[in-house]
Amino acid sequence: MTQDELKDAVAAAAIDEIRPHLGRDSVIGVGTGSTANRFIDRLASLRDDLRGAVASSEASAERLRGHGIECFELNEVGTVPVYVDGADEVNAHLHMIKGGGAALTREKIVAACAERFICIADGSKKVATLGDFPLPVEVIPMARSYVARELVKLGADPVYRQGVITDNGNQILDCYEFMIEDPVAMEARIDAIVGVVTNGLFAARGADLLLLGGEQGVERLTP
Ligand code: A5P
Repeated sequence: MTQDELKDAVAAAAIDEIRPHLGRDSVIGVGTGSTANRFIDRLASLRDDLRGAVASSEASAERLRGHGIECFELNEVGTVPVYVDGADEVNAHLHMIKGGGAALTREKIVAACAERFICIADGSKKVATLGDFPLPVEVIPMARSYVARELVKLGADPVYRQGVITDNGNQILDCYEFMIEDPVAMEARIDAIVGVVTNGLFAARGADLLLLGGEQGVERLTP
């Protein structure tokens, strides 16, 4: 199977997973990226079975609206019963690196307000140790150089993602050469640097379920 077919398979599995729990008043959280896009496209078939969605990016909101799915502000709904999103890397504890699409801050906010986080990923995303994928860190623009120097002290090789402005008007530093042995501790250490808005480690609040696509089908993994 191609990577795209695997993404399709996990998107379909996520629809099967959430369908029994949806009601006409349900507003669900929806992530960002190529895997989440496949989920959004399939969610169109459930349009009449739910009230709408909270999107973790402007791009996802636009795609949802394109399918006739109403988008709500998170502040309007407070919490969501489930959040479905992809990941750049995920480990056995269902800790993740996210933010390859620069949507990490909104993704982390929606995930924090979700009763359940379902991660959907093709098998290439599963790793023993997080860090091969460069860890994104969203920074307030005036703090970029300072934060970069602090990240070097933590052992990372931060690179400014040129030309990218997040939906929140901020910039991204990608941390290369940075294998992460203790994701919960590192998430907190990076968040404590002044000028950091969010980092792409989703460990304090990891996923509750991973739907992982492989040649043998979709595996259901829990932490
Ligand atoms: C967006 O900022 C990311 O967190 C995505 O969820 C992540 O990059 C996965 O994207 P793909 O599904 O496109 O691999």
